[in-house]
Amino acid sequence: MATTKKVLITGGAGFIGSHVVRLFVTKYPEYEVYNMDALTYAGNLENLKDIEGQSNYHFVKGDISDEAAMQQLFQEIMPDAVLHLAAESHVDRSIKDPMAFIRTNVMGTVNLLNAAKELWKDDMDSHLFYHISTDEVYGSLDDGGYFLEDTSYDPKSPYSASKASSDHFVRAYHNTYGLPIVISNCSNNYGPNHFPEKLIPLCINNIKHNKPLPIYGKGENVRDWLYVVDHARAIDTIFHQGKVGDTYNIGGFNEWKNIDIVRLLCQVMDRKLDRSEGTSEKLITFVTDRAGHDLRYAINAHKLMNELGWKPSLQFEEGIEKTVAWYLSNEEWLENVTSGNYQKYYEGQYG
Ligand code: NAD
Ligand code: TYD
Repeated sequence: MATTKKVLITGGAGFIGSHVVRLFVTKYPEYEVYNMDALTYAGNLENLKDIEGQSNYHFVKGDISDEAAMQQLFQEIMPDAVLHLAAESHVDRSIKDPMAFIRTNVMGTVNLLNAAKELWKDDMDSHLFYHISTDEVYGSLDDGGYFLEDTSYDPKSPYSASKASSDHFVRAYHNTYGLPIVISNCSNNYGPNHFPEKLIPLCINNIKHNKPLPIYGKGENVRDWLYVVDHARAIDTIFHQGKVGDTYNIGGFNEWKNIDIVRLLCQVMDRKLDRSEGTSEKLITFVTDRAGHDLRYAINAHKLMNELGWKPSLQFEEGIEKTVAWYLSNEEWLENVTSGNYQKYYEGQYG
């Protein structure tokens, strides 16, 4: 099949990136898809085992914080478009080591912008730099209201500050150099391949092993959850139909308090593991709150729904069932990613 487009996806070995790579490789056989990833603790090529033999899929190991390597890689691959997902993504790690987040999320993004600007300088318009960002850049909400595309940025954690900074650079490159960009800001994702340092997979793993379920503070914080495949579908929609220069918020209108999610997970796990009702809830343990813990995130995704016709395909309860089923039938994946360095991280974080 003749190639119509070379698409470079950064961070494609991570949680969301692997779902985006799979969607693009399988849905668009006419595209050459390059997955460029540094394979940090969060990157795992096992996530893509099912598609690694596809002729339109290529993996390239690369670190976006390496300026010279990015310039060279862009000249070699000559991508027509970039989908940028590579990032340090965990708030708790950003509290311990902000500089790693500045190196990858800020400087890494600017390295990619420079490499794209240099490669596309004679013909900007036929290209696209799509930056994948988070709702956390908008800060924290009280009980009412939603984040809209024009909500002022007010990041509160080193992670969200680094993502906000990268968003500003992407917009600045559009405004200053005419680089064709689009940005989306998504709410919390969940689903298969989620690294078990994040709330949902951490609790699934701990329930399985009868370990305490650490809930920060009182568990009253609210997040707006979206199934990862629906995020990948939204990215596909925005990549193909989004207006250059625009921002799209992505979310599932699906707000949950942390404590309620953990209780739901306990119920689903008790049923799937044939444990008597209430067994796993006994593992719930309230621990010291996260420093600067954002109270509530809630996305208004009407622009994406009304202008581009996207909507989530799954209800939360159905998505959680699928997610738990995936973790229970992929024990080897879970064992592999929770051995070694993860153990050290866990000890440092939870004692
Ligand atoms: P993840 O941590 O699971 O994966 C990140 C990937 O980036 C990994 O494969 C890692 O190896 C790679 N990476 C890290 N540093 C790199 C570097 N210097 N060079 C090259 N590759 C590097 O993250 P995720 O949850 O899949 O998030 C992907 C993107 O989506 C991020 O930009 C994140 O900010 C954004 N996002 C995430 C969520 C969420 O709920 N997880 C929500 C909204 C937006
Ligand atoms: P997390 O999955 O880290 O995502 P984010 O901080 O990007 O929203 O956390 C989701 C929520 O769960 C957040 O309010 C923090 C909370 N949380 C806990 O209560 N205990 C934990 O062990 C973790 C990792 C998170």
